[in-house]
Amino acid sequence: MESRAHWDGVYGARTEAELSWHQDDPAISFALMNKAGLNSATSVIDIGGGTSRIVDRLLAAGLCDVSVLDLSENALLAARQRLGPDSDKVTWITADVTRWRAPRTYDLWHDRAVFHFLTGSEDRAAYLRRLEKSLSPAGHAIIATFALDGPEKCSGLPVVRYSPDTLAATLGEGFERVAHQHHEHRTPWGSPQAFQYSLFRKRP
Ligand SMILES: C[S@@+](CC[C@H](N)C(=O)[O-])C[C@H]1O[C@@H](n2cnc3c(N)ncnc32)[C@H](O)[C@@H]1O
Repeated sequence: MESRAHWDGVYGARTEAELSWHQDDPAISFALMNKAGLNSATSVIDIGGGTSRIVDRLLAAGLCDVSVLDLSENALLAARQRLGPDSDKVTWITADVTRWRAPRTYDLWHDRAVFHFLTGSEDRAAYLRRLEKSLSPAGHAIIATFALDGPEKCSGLPVVRYSPDTLAATLGEGFERVAHQHHEHRTPWGSPQAFQYSLFRKRP
């Protein structure tokens, strides 16, 4: 699959410091998770988690039902190596989120910088069907994308940029927006990238 080869190539060839999206501390995601009522019993899935350190934060907070899904085997391998023995506490899923069949439901879906790569309406619809199906009743979703004034590409691939309102409209009536936040991410080499983070609750 073309996209998998792209991402495996990226993670196979670059260090964290060479990934524009890298964050030492995914603080905004973690704060929004807390706003969603995160506790040690919350089940969380990080969609397109790559080598994100949000999983480290969740384990440190005492969560014991954490899953990370990514298209790239290389990304998940690097994340597992970083975590060492703690990686056994995580469920690692190598899959394309637009084709994945979720075997269960989760309380909290987290996606930072993945949904915005879905430039085709069919892929977006496939993603949203999986989001709807795999969230538990009244579950929460955090979706962070490039903002309207953010870059037009990420990792050389075109993206769709969103405002909190256009993202909410894309998710539709099944989700109620609880909070949103603008964030100016700095790449490891200091370039600014405007993101929007939105927290949604699934309507019963
Ligand atoms: C820009 S990176 C963001 C990584 C991570 N969320 C973070 O904040 O550090 C995008 C990630 O999405 C993954 N990805 C891209 N398309 C995907 C898809 N269709 N299904 C699952 N993962 C995907 C890539 O492999 C990559 O790890």
